[in-house]
Amino acid sequence: MTRTKHDQADSTIPLGPTGRPFREFPAPPALNGHGPARIISLCNQKGGVGKTTTTINLGATLAEDGRRVLAVDFDPQGALSAGLGVQTHDVTTIYDLLLSRHRDPFEAIQKTSVEGLDVIPANIDLSAAEVHLVNEVAREQILAGVLRRVAPEYDVILVDCQPSLGLLTVNALTASHGVVIPLECEFFALRGVALLIETIDKVRDRLNPAIELDGILATMYDSRTLHSREVLERVVDAFGDEVLETVITRTVKFPDASVAGTPITQFAPEHQAAKAYRQLARELVFRGAIA
Ligand SMILES: Nc1ncnc2c1ncn2[C@@H]1O[C@H](COP(=O)(O)OP(=O)(O)OP(=O)(O)O)[C@@H](O)[C@H]1O
Ligand SMILES: [Mg+2]
Repeated sequence: MTRTKHDQADSTIPLGPTGRPFREFPAPPALNGHGPARIISLCNQKGGVGKTTTTINLGATLAEDGRRVLAVDFDPQGALSAGLGVQTHDVTTIYDLLLSRHRDPFEAIQKTSVEGLDVIPANIDLSAAEVHLVNEVAREQILAGVLRRVAPEYDVILVDCQPSLGLLTVNALTASHGVVIPLECEFFALRGVALLIETIDKVRDRLNPAIELDGILATMYDSRTLHSREVLERVVDAFGDEVLETVITRTVKFPDASVAGTPITQFAPEHQAAKAYRQLARELVFRGAIA
């Protein structure tokens, strides 16, 4: 059971924003070897909730902790590729890999400015993929086939989904061991989450029995507003311990870092938001979602 604010008066232990005793997750031990990767999709069909920001910064902080990370841009907007400062034109993209089984997926991988964090980019071509794949055999399993070939080289693969529950997102869920759902601490946060969970359940039933919900991540939290605190309380009431203890606060540093094409951990390494993403990486390792 999570404690409520009313219990706080009785306790000397400070509570974190999700109502559980505040704690810091320790840096994980170094790994003895690398791979095969656990694949995690960052998924929410609602737009602008922090999927891409989380993919970039979780990827960067996991790499800081010695994990080999591959981030996959699975949104035709290419925001992940831009946020990591990589080329998206005249290069091999995820679209090329989906369309041709004969392409070598390693050909598409680009290094980023963060040691240990690589990316497969996307561009607007990917918007045609759903139409092209719809008549393919096992059309939901195409991304899984691509990622299976690169997984041995990485500890974790993060797939940044587009804001839709269409065939691309179903491909991402079919390829994944886990899903992290970023939720913006705003009025309509919970709208659509039931549909997303239902989609994950259908994918588990029909395509990928092993898929797990790794956690719900509250983003754009503003502790100064009652509204933000109330939304987070409702999210915790609805999902209990599925809600990650780490909460990402709202700060203008994120848009600034995106413009600079770098993770916040490089743009403002000591900023509270960079520290929050370090905690997120460590919490996911602590929970066993990542090696
Ligand atoms: N914690 C935060 N505080 C303030 N701004 C943020 C935060 N996280 C993300 N943003 C900004 O909000 C916008 C949307 O974030 P982001 O692109 O990560 O969301 P998304 O879920 O990937 O969106 P889409 O559904 O369009 O792909 C971006 O401009 C980003 O810089
Ligand atoms: Mg995005």
